[in-house]
Amino acid sequence: MRTKRRIIVTSALPYANGDIHIGHLVEYLQTDFWVRFQKMRGHDCLYVCADDTHGTPIMVRARNEGITPEALIARSHQQHSRDFADCEVAFDNYYTTHSEENRAYSGLIFRSLEAGGHIVSRQLPQLYCPHDAMFLPDRFVKGICPKCQAEGQYGDACDACGATYAAEELREARCVVCGRAPVTRDSEHLFVELEHFRAYLQAWVPQHTARDVSNKLLEWFGEPLRGWDISRDAPYFGFEIPGHPGKFFYVWVDAPIGYMAALQNWCTRTGDSFDAWWQNPATELYHFIGKDIVRFHCLFWPAMLQSAGLRGPDQVFVHGFLTVNGEKMSKSKGTFISARTYLRHLDAASLRFYYACKLNGTTDDLDLNLDDFIHRVNSDLVGKITNLASRGAQMLHKSLGGRMGSLDPAGQELLASAQARAEAVAAAYEARDFCRVQVEVREIADRANQYFDSRAPWALVKSDPEAARLVLTTTLNLFRVLAIYLKPILPAYVAKVEKLLGDAPYGWDDVATVITDRPVGGYEYLAKRLEKEQVEKMIEESRPENREPTSGAAAPVAPKPAASAAPNPAAPPAAVAPPAVTAAEGAAKGIIDYDTFAKADLRVAKIVTAELVEGADKLLRLQVDLGEGQPLRQIFAGIRKCYEPASLVGRCVVVVANLAPRKMRFGISEGMVLAASNADGSLFVVAPDAGALPGVGVK
Ligand code: MSP
Ligand code: ZN
Repeated sequence: MRTKRRIIVTSALPYANGDIHIGHLVEYLQTDFWVRFQKMRGHDCLYVCADDTHGTPIMVRARNEGITPEALIARSHQQHSRDFADCEVAFDNYYTTHSEENRAYSGLIFRSLEAGGHIVSRQLPQLYCPHDAMFLPDRFVKGICPKCQAEGQYGDACDACGATYAAEELREARCVVCGRAPVTRDSEHLFVELEHFRAYLQAWVPQHTARDVSNKLLEWFGEPLRGWDISRDAPYFGFEIPGHPGKFFYVWVDAPIGYMAALQNWCTRTGDSFDAWWQNPATELYHFIGKDIVRFHCLFWPAMLQSAGLRGPDQVFVHGFLTVNGEKMSKSKGTFISARTYLRHLDAASLRFYYACKLNGTTDDLDLNLDDFIHRVNSDLVGKITNLASRGAQMLHKSLGGRMGSLDPAGQELLASAQARAEAVAAAYEARDFCRVQVEVREIADRANQYFDSRAPWALVKSDPEAARLVLTTTLNLFRVLAIYLKPILPAYVAKVEKLLGDAPYGWDDVATVITDRPVGGYEYLAKRLEKEQVEKMIEESRPENREPTSGAAAPVAPKPAASAAPNPAAPPAAVAPPAVTAAEGAAKGIIDYDTFAKADLRVAKIVTAELVEGADKLLRLQVDLGEGQPLRQIFAGIRKCYEPASLVGRCVVVVANLAPRKMRFGISEGMVLAASNADGSLFVVAPDAGALPGVGVK
């Protein structure tokens, strides 16, 4: 028996002002692999995360879109949650930093820093717009780059030459709200005296980070640690600092505290105790982060926690950055690919499989080479692994009544050697060396294929069907072991395998069992070959000229210099310029704006029953299956004039799945089936293309 561990795992909180992209997924997928592995091993493991919702870029973006920051972060939360779910990333809680839990913990930690004498206040020169009566955050100022003289650059960095500088250094600076020249004014800022934590951090860093990470960090200790500026002037979308009216926590203060808030919220919802998790010395805590945010997690964060008497992470796991075809992700090359665009063309399992092949638990960057990606998925996942199941199960069904028998002696030996790798595979998972997991899996798969090919069951089945049954049973057992080893990486795929083999959901120890003398389910598609055209289309769609207007959020957006948008500093920063077309105006003109339409969750559904409705001459009552194990939904569709109920049964249609349920005279309608009308007014149900499966999003 393994001792049960209690583990809290986090991924960095993605900014709410951008879409999830395939670079982010390097992090969320590997964390998800690790968490799923721990859960399969029977440990109590919680995976919490949240949207990082505060700060200037969010204000700027909301202002550009003419919506409140609250509306913006609500929309992002929905989109991010859906992106993660569709990528099979399973958080125990996906929360937000804009929460009361987070406000409370941020206040608590700040007060402990203040009480400990670790906060000092200093005057800093800041750009101030007298017309708008506000201090201007970097992104609210534009001017000429002091280094390369490029025009129209923000107050923090130049897009043209990459230089970074202070806003006061910009030449001919202008307030982006009113277009007037700002003045320089002193403002009080609060700093954390990091130097007070020198000894603590110097000891902490090497114990809680990998060697290469700690070596880099320790370089900072060669000179006095600079104070960390944690306050921002109003207007700022964030939390006001207790006892310091008009000052707000810099976003990086409450962002990591968001890990605690997400856990707290989970505990409140499930009736569990925060202290029994976070403050429990037996609990392990791990943060997965990218190498760009090490300083925040390995200097500022442990200092904050230490001051408040709160526990810190056992390890901060740092990963490298994604490149595509050997280069930085690039908008113009179409390699800055959002999760949503990816999912429109390819399935999550392929990316999960490929990233696992490339991740080895170090801080090295990893490359998504698109040709290699296609090749790996096709040759290994489809060719070597999935083929074992499809050939095995289909042959059993076709010629042997769909029943497994027992194993032959050679097969038993092969299976035993595959099972004997369980601890080696587990050790690779534990070390986040997913690449080594894949190597183990590939070796087993290669040997299984050799076995299968050398026995030629397709010929045996005619000469000696019972011998063929032994071979196929062995092959399916080998495949089953592979499925168990791959389950953290390919959860949806393996759920289908469990069904195929008539097994309950696999835990790690199920690898030790052998299945014999039982029926095999009908073979459902598990993985499809990737075609180069799918990848090409995805790249094409990711090029700037083809990107959708509101989804390319990663690009910094210039605030509109509209005089009408002048905010009153006393009012919440939300009350700003109207969007180009509001939903209400759009509706009046008979058009809907993009965002309203983007909210519709279009899903493929299969019609299970269709019947006439007593007393309604236009309606049919449908029961539709949305897949993914969801209960059937009842939908009333006004298509009776054009369709015989019986002709609809078994057909796939497109359903708006997130429509509020509507109470009708005949019952509740839980969605809408899409139909289009012809010139003569007859109706045609919209059908997805061949091959669509219930539950797949179609936008
Ligand atoms: N909001 C902060 C994190 C706060 S954590 C308390 C942030 N957000 S982010 O959206 O920019 O990045 C989220 C995570 O994704 C970070 O760990 C970051 O390193 C990672 N990645 C973002 N782009 C990436 C790549 N191109 N490649 C690999 N990881 C990347 O930072
Ligand atoms: Zn101004």
